[in-house]
Amino acid sequence: MNRPLKNTWSIILAAGSGSRLGEAAGGVRKQYLEFKGAPLFWHSARTFSRVAGVKGVVFVFPPEDVIPMEKQLRQFFKAEELGLRWKVCAGGERRQDSVRHGVAELPRDCDGVLVHDSARPFVSARLVRELIDCLDQGAQAATPGLSITDTIKRVADGVVTETLVRAELRSVQTPQIFETALLMQAHEQAVQEGWDVTDDASMVERIAEVIVIPGEQGNIKITTPQDLAKLEEPRVTVPCVG
Ligand code: CTP
Ligand code: MG
Repeated sequence: MNRPLKNTWSIILAAGSGSRLGEAAGGVRKQYLEFKGAPLFWHSARTFSRVAGVKGVVFVFPPEDVIPMEKQLRQFFKAEELGLRWKVCAGGERRQDSVRHGVAELPRDCDGVLVHDSARPFVSARLVRELIDCLDQGAQAATPGLSITDTIKRVADGVVTETLVRAELRSVQTPQIFETALLMQAHEQAVQEGWDVTDDASMVERIAEVIVIPGEQGNIKITTPQDLAKLEEPRVTVPCVG
C-alpha cells in the first residue's frame, strides 16, 4: 500500500533532568549542552528541517523553561528560518508524559509523528527520511534498531536467570515514527492501564506492528559523563531571557 504522509511533525523531547550526567554537565540540563555552537536540542531541529516530508516541530521543555525558550527560539535561534511550523510546550515527570504533552500540541491534520530524544544530536537526515518512507509504504510504526555485540543476561539478586538469544535482540534508537492517531491511542491506553515505559514503541507494539529498520552507530544518546567526550569541547548554554 502506498499512501504518502501529508503532514508529518516531529516532537523533540528536551524536558529531562539529565540525572545520569549529574555534575559533569556543570549543573545544566544536558539538552542545553552546547556542541558545535548550538545546544543539543537545536541540532536535531536543524536535521529535521532538512527532510522534505517534515512540516513542523514541537519542542518539549521543562515547564519553567517554556516561556524563556520560546522567546529564545524566536529571537536568538530564529526558529522561523527552519522553514517549519513550530510550537513549544511543557514536559512532564516521565519521558512518556513529555511525549503525551507534545502529542496534544499536534495540529488536527498531522498524520505522522516522529518522536525524538534531544539527547541524540547526531541523527542523520537520511535516517529520518527512511523512517518517513516506511510509513509512506504502508507501515503504521517504525523504529531504528542496532544489532548488539554483547551477550545479554537476565539477572535476579546477582544471579543469572536467563541468557537471551542475541540474534533476536536490537538496541533501539530515536526518532521513532508513528501514525499520529495510533500514537495518540497508545498514550491514552497507557494512561488508562498504567503502562510505564522508556520509549514509545513499547506502547505501540502492544496494539500494532512496529517495524525495525537499521539504526545508526553514530546516533548515540548522550547519557553518562563518558558520553561527553563524544561532543567536541562540551560547553554550556544557559537559557536566558533575551
Ligand atoms: N525527557 C523528557 N522528559 C522527561 C524525561 C526525559 O523530555 N520527563 C527527554 C530527555 O530530555 C532526553 C530524552 O527524553 O532528550 C531521553 O531521556 P534520557 O536520556 O533518559 O534523558 P534524561 O531523563 O534527561 O536523563 P536521566 O534519565 O539521566 O535523568
Ligand atoms: Mg531519563
